[in-house]
Amino acid sequence: PVPGWSVDADVVVVGSGIAGLTAALTYIELAPEARVLVVTKDVLSAGSTRWAQGGIAAVLDPEDTPDEHLNDTLIAGVGLCDEEAVRILVTEGPDALKRLIGHGARFDRDTDGELQLTREGGHRRNRIVHAGGDATGAEVQRALTQAVLAEPRIEIIEHALVLDLLQDETGHASGVTLHVMGEGARDGVGAANAGAVVLASGGMGQVYAATTNPVVSTGDGVALALRAGAVVRDVEFVQFHPTVLWLGEGSTGQQPLVSEAVRGEGAVLVDANGDRFMQGVHELADLAPRDVVAKAITRKMHETGADHVYLDARDFGEEKWRARFPTILAVCREHGIDPVTQPIPVAPAAHYASGGVRTDLYGRTSVPGLYACGEVACTGVHGANRLASNSLLEGLVFAERIASDLVARTRTPERPDARHRPDGLVDPRVRARIQSHMSRGAGVLRSEESLAEVARALENARWTPVAVEPCTESWEATNLLTVASALVAAAKEREETRGAHWREDHPERDDDRWRLHIDISLGTEGL
Ligand code: SIN
Repeated sequence: PVPGWSVDADVVVVGSGIAGLTAALTYIELAPEARVLVVTKDVLSAGSTRWAQGGIAAVLDPEDTPDEHLNDTLIAGVGLCDEEAVRILVTEGPDALKRLIGHGARFDRDTDGELQLTREGGHRRNRIVHAGGDATGAEVQRALTQAVLAEPRIEIIEHALVLDLLQDETGHASGVTLHVMGEGARDGVGAANAGAVVLASGGMGQVYAATTNPVVSTGDGVALALRAGAVVRDVEFVQFHPTVLWLGEGSTGQQPLVSEAVRGEGAVLVDANGDRFMQGVHELADLAPRDVVAKAITRKMHETGADHVYLDARDFGEEKWRARFPTILAVCREHGIDPVTQPIPVAPAAHYASGGVRTDLYGRTSVPGLYACGEVACTGVHGANRLASNSLLEGLVFAERIASDLVARTRTPERPDARHRPDGLVDPRVRARIQSHMSRGAGVLRSEESLAEVARALENARWTPVAVEPCTESWEATNLLTVASALVAAAKEREETRGAHWREDHPERDDDRWRLHIDISLGTEGL
């Protein structure tokens, strides 16, 4: 269908988490006449940011240095980080955090008013700021939402699912098409015309059956970028968070996270006999980078036939649990586990896409006028495995850099022929099939055989006997199919084990052959 309405802005930002809202706020601060449109699929606060527990990593302790943060990030990324991008992250991070505080975010402080700093897996120093104990993301989202709502030059459209990129005759991004539900005059399919587009639409955790991601994380940004001809990178590196509350066999959808900060404060992983198993696996034991911990847990589960292990934090006592991890305490108790007196059952679940739409150091993708930041992007800071609490930081730092580039480059919006391409929509019911195949064959542990089986299942899912009605569910299922296919294509190609990518049939890291990135674009086999 042809769009029934249109709206113009200087820049359209897709997504309303830390990356999208920081890009919008920074841009209007730098460009006093500019107008920004933020479009978001659900309500402003529905994305992944608000679920972040642990915090934001930044060098604030006088004993700590950017070089040490850089080093920890490079080690976690197992040879695939872009060192220049990481240097930017760790050096610009502390000031970006201060600007976030300037936007109203309140972080936990000690009695002297200094920011409290904790530690998570892979960090050799305490450098993680947090809010409300374990509700950092909720506080960040609250502050940024309030700041954006107070700004008349930022317009917001909620319940707006992004469909496709609009491009002028030169291929430059000139807006997006949207499907809006229940927003009065702007109901149905419309076009947002702009001189540039910033994708900040989050991750793709919903390609798996069990994930910490909310239901809205269906890879819409990566799928849009692929359809528009952009390059995506490192998509095989999906991070599985080691300690996700285990809710029983077959439980699917968004699963509650038990922050790494719980281990940062001294909790330990144990098996069903109460024996610790991380000592001797890595010098940092329970605080090893999360790919190492997720693999060790998976190995332990295979060895013992168990479907979960335990996180023992009984030593904290009730008072510390209440003060430091009130959200996790409440969620555990809601599910019948009292972490004050019982070890918490945990298992790994899909958590974060380390790869995404490839960008340069200013968030520019391979399509002119299209930018990406936050989880949807691959800036190069995460490599094969993201260091804990670097994601909110990346969203902040690279959103600010995009804003500075936009000031120099914004063009007048054009009004190209704004048709989107609903052809090839898949039946919404394939979503559950994609999730179960991906979890079985392309999850923590993969092999050529398991990936080939998933690839066949994805190919079958493409086939629909009748025309599919364009609706949110069918667009989401189509996007999930696209990003799952990209992920499986890259995972099949990478015949080694590195970071978050674990190949049973190629168990070693192979620096001679594979210290390189896998780029995927339209035309890659399997897409
Ligand atoms: C956590 O709190 O363990 C998650 C932090 C992160 O994903 O960086």
